[in-house]
Amino acid sequence: MSKILVTGGTGYIGSHTVVELQNSGYEVIIVDNLSNSSIDVLDGITSITGKKPAFEKIDCRDKQDLAGVFKKYSGIEAIIHFAASKAVGESVEKPLLYYRNNLVSVLNILELMGEQNACSLVFSSSCTVYGQPDVLPVTEDAPIKPATSPYGNTKQIAEEIIRDAIHADKRLKCIALRYFNPVGAHPSAAIGELPNGVPNNLIPFVTQTAIGIRDCLRVFGNDYDTPDGSAIRDYIWVTDLAKAHVIAVERLLANKNKKGIEFFNLGTGKGLSVLEILEVFEQVTGVEINRQIVARREGDVEKVWADPTFANKELGWKAETSTEKMLETAWKWEIALTAKRR
Ligand code: NAD
Ligand code: WQD
Repeated sequence: MSKILVTGGTGYIGSHTVVELQNSGYEVIIVDNLSNSSIDVLDGITSITGKKPAFEKIDCRDKQDLAGVFKKYSGIEAIIHFAASKAVGESVEKPLLYYRNNLVSVLNILELMGEQNACSLVFSSSCTVYGQPDVLPVTEDAPIKPATSPYGNTKQIAEEIIRDAIHADKRLKCIALRYFNPVGAHPSAAIGELPNGVPNNLIPFVTQTAIGIRDCLRVFGNDYDTPDGSAIRDYIWVTDLAKAHVIAVERLLANKNKKGIEFFNLGTGKGLSVLEILEVFEQVTGVEINRQIVARREGDVEKVWADPTFANKELGWKAETSTEKMLETAWKWEIALTAKRR
């Protein structure tokens, strides 16, 4: 049973990935500083998989502490590195915090990979590296556009740092996964997204409006060059996304001779507008969303969706879950979360 270190494993995507890893027989060690997640997530993971993952409350910026994890759990074979700060707006206000958190963590992980001979890395990247692509759907070899936020820049720089480190130390290898817009929750509603304060992202704002925590959803712009004027994204179910990480780890561990870095787009290949999302949400839940059209949000791209062909072919992975099911799970999670908070 291979041991996998999952940084940020109590977070949104991390927790769903830990479930899929444990269900596939991997031994998981989570490292998280709980800066944007709760220790209770471990109970959710345990209730789904029947197994409590090992957990260490450690900050990835602290290399000594991280080294201690490699010693304590000897034989870690691969690392999935989710731990990062991810709020685009906050990154504009606190750029240095974002550069330090997201990049010092990557430096520590890469140094330790070499030192501990744990040579396989799966890295959480983002479609944000493409900015507004010139050609849609966007493929992995599309140009990387200047980042529109310090957060986006940390992902671009991290990709470059990893590329250089792997070039210099031929033992190291990485699969960088560029996520489009992850949404929804585990069907059990035992784990899901835990937005901190007022959600920035569309789906948590929609579910909070539906349940009455928020009065009104602001639709950011209806004057884009899209069929209904609202912006288009590629929404991917978080569990589909999580499964791709298991496949990526298997690919790295199975093929000892494969080296270097590979990039994969993880999306459905289908773009949906904000107004289309609201329509589907209302259909599947029967709840009307009070909304107001407001000005475009600064920094938003008009439209982006993935060409996932490379991931489909090379990883044998496909995001097949319908928008209806994604939104149903998001709604079920919001109901469970609100019940817990009362
Ligand atoms: P999240 O905030 O839910 O999870 C990140 C986890 O990392 C949290 O549990 C947090 O406590 C932890 N963490 C942060 N800094 C840490 C540090 N220095 N040391 C230890 N733990 C630390 O976020 P998420 O949505 O699950 O995102 C996971 C990864 O995927 C991030 O790298 C993010 O940038 C990337 N990503 C997310 C999205 C998205 O829309 N959610 C899209 C593309 C890429
Ligand atoms: C989706 C659409 C909004 C909220 C962000 C990051 C990106 C990546 C994924 C990490 C947009 C609209 C939203 C609201 C709205 N994260 N919207 N009203 O901006 O595509 O991507 O998360 O890497 O880097 O930028 O996601 O969910 O915020 O927005 O109309 O209250 O919904 O304008 O068109 P986004 P989002």
